[in-house]
Amino acid sequence: MMSQYPASRLRRLRRTSALRAMVQETELSARNLIYPVFVVEGKKITEEISSLPGVFRYSTDELPGVIEASSRLGVNAVLLFGIPQHKDEKGSGAYSPRGVVQRAVKAIKKENPGMIVITDVCLCEYTSHGHCGIVVDGAVDNDKTLPVLAGAALSHAEAGADMVAPSDMMDGRVGFIRKALDEAGFSHIPIMAYSAKFASSMYGPFREAAACAPQFGDRRGYQMNYTNGREALLEIEEDIKEGADIVMVKPALPYLDIISEARRSFRHPLAAFNVSGEYAMVKAAAKMGWINEKAAVLEILTAIKRAGADLVITYHAREAACWLEEEKGL
Ligand code: PBG
Ligand code: ZN
Repeated sequence: MMSQYPASRLRRLRRTSALRAMVQETELSARNLIYPVFVVEGKKITEEISSLPGVFRYSTDELPGVIEASSRLGVNAVLLFGIPQHKDEKGSGAYSPRGVVQRAVKAIKKENPGMIVITDVCLCEYTSHGHCGIVVDGAVDNDKTLPVLAGAALSHAEAGADMVAPSDMMDGRVGFIRKALDEAGFSHIPIMAYSAKFASSMYGPFREAAACAPQFGDRRGYQMNYTNGREALLEIEEDIKEGADIVMVKPALPYLDIISEARRSFRHPLAAFNVSGEYAMVKAAAKMGWINEKAAVLEILTAIKRAGADLVITYHAREAACWLEEEKGL
């Protein structure tokens, strides 16, 4: 039988900071954080994104400095998002060997070969209509989109990307991309699949940052309904069957139940994307003086890990790494 008060006093192990540290269950570490980076065309550009204070759009020539600063903090993985100058119906910038992401990958790997460069694979940043796939008769055509996504993933691998991360939510895309990579000699390049990606209000600041809001309709025809938990597990299962190496739940905070279930149901490494809207809410409240920013960020990121995520993709990565160093020094 479980002992009860007064024999059981759970406060005993909370009495000193040394005791609390000894029984701490979850530890946040910079090596599990992935930093999202927005890349634009042009030169000498470092522009702050108004809805994401502290996050910038960089031109390729500015990247080596940014990457160097990240790696000095112990954040050794970045997730690249490209914002091209020209968008068209077919999103052809997504797979151009001279595209903005392809050039960024090369620039980073040249200066900092140890940095893990992951590329977001989707069409919405590159299409004039802002949808994540090829539009036919006003709807996103799943199977016509697959070869375009595979072309984009392949062009990233050819540029030197260490990992590709499809975020489009088309059915069958992980298998399609896996096959294309394997056939081209990239069987060693892992896929991190945005597996359970929900149609969420939390992507607002990202869409401003990447100018990729859909010009008609919304993404509910391909991203998941946030009412559905079991279906999220089905999505993850499908991606694993198709060859995903890392699976993801996105967003993170409103979906900790899904992260926890996914952790219990699967053995693959699990990533959670602490998205732009989650970041923006913290920044706004901190600016108003309504919360302690450092405490809030460390609590949020640790909670995402505690729920079961091995990796956290977060715009807070660099500041969190800094704060973790500070804590160690205390
Ligand atoms: C592109 C993509 C989006 C995000 C990551 N990849 C936007 C969307 O699906 O509308 C969101 C990231 C964030 O909000 O931080 N498909
Ligand atoms: Zn997209």
